[in-house]
Amino acid sequence: MSADLQGLAELVVCWQAEHGRQHLPWQQTRDPYRVWLSEIMLQQTQVATVLGYYQRFLDRFPDVASLADAALDEVLALWSGLGYYSRARNLHRCAQQVQQQYGGAFPRSVAELSALPGIGRSTAGAIAAFCFAERVPILDANVKRALTRVLGFAQDLARAANERQLWQQAEQLLPNSDLTDSMPRYTQGLMDLGAMVCLPRKPVCSQCPLAVQCVARSQGQPELYPVRTRKLRRSAQAWWLLLQADAKGRVWLQRRPGAGIWASLYAPPVFDDRAALLSAAGMPQDAPQLQELPAFTHVLTHRDLHLHPILLQGVRSPTLQVAEGEPGGWFDAQQWRDLGLPAPIRLLLDGLPNMAVAGQVPRAAAG
Ligand code: ADE
Repeated sequence: MSADLQGLAELVVCWQAEHGRQHLPWQQTRDPYRVWLSEIMLQQTQVATVLGYYQRFLDRFPDVASLADAALDEVLALWSGLGYYSRARNLHRCAQQVQQQYGGAFPRSVAELSALPGIGRSTAGAIAAFCFAERVPILDANVKRALTRVLGFAQDLARAANERQLWQQAEQLLPNSDLTDSMPRYTQGLMDLGAMVCLPRKPVCSQCPLAVQCVARSQGQPELYPVRTRKLRRSAQAWWLLLQADAKGRVWLQRRPGAGIWASLYAPPVFDDRAALLSAAGMPQDAPQLQELPAFTHVLTHRDLHLHPILLQGVRSPTLQVAEGEPGGWFDAQQWRDLGLPAPIRLLLDGLPNMAVAGQVPRAAAG
């Protein structure tokens, strides 16, 4: 390691103490259950959004045992609106595994932590560093950006060998002393730098404690890092949704299959095109009870979902066919609000005319 990088950890630790975030709820604890939950929620979601979900989740599931004992549906319902629902399914499985395999106490090593569902190497590193002051690196997207810039690491991270090399370099930069205090602070400091200073497009180098050492800054274009050639390939898909509301204002929802988009969540039946929807509903093309709602696009990580809701109101479809064999049922407004629903479906149901149970004020959709 070059002489310039020797004091890097100390600079990050001091900067974190003075300028980093100190009051996030998951920073006030070393309980691995709480830290793990926060890290999973923060994987693809902004801090501001996570705060409310985190508290509600802990109120309902204060420990591993309560989460392990819960029904998956209840976990998904509390997750509703956070997106990336595989996180919630893995969370539930992980709690059950910690309960069964480790008697409810999270293991302490990165190797054991990263063998659990939903915990990758970086999340395992964060839990081990925050809770057990283990001398292990993290490398989430924000930290990758900050470190590749400081180091001038120009290899293509689309290649696994280069990514491994960056992990090795991250290991060499770790603090060497006072680990009980320095490991949590250094880990949080790198996250804070990535989130607040070393921004993707407009890094605020004037506020960076590592500006003097930063190779990318000295080269003049820090935004060029990290280098990753393989671009995410996006696709698009159109879904026709049969939104049925009966005379009492109840809606027909069914559980999605356990794998794929919106896995295990509740949604109206989905069809590939309008004709398939009408045929399943047993309705002629021009039935007056059919109302086409405005189509909209829901953006997923790898896909744009073009959603075409068709409302069938006041009558029940004579031939209600359940797509993909999943069980379904009629739910009133009080009931569907407590289901695990994808955010766009919740918005759609919230916006339906005459759907609120008499006297009930519709609640804003989450997420
Ligand atoms: N993102 C991932 N982990 C985080 C943490 N501990 N604090 C703030 N943002 C984060």
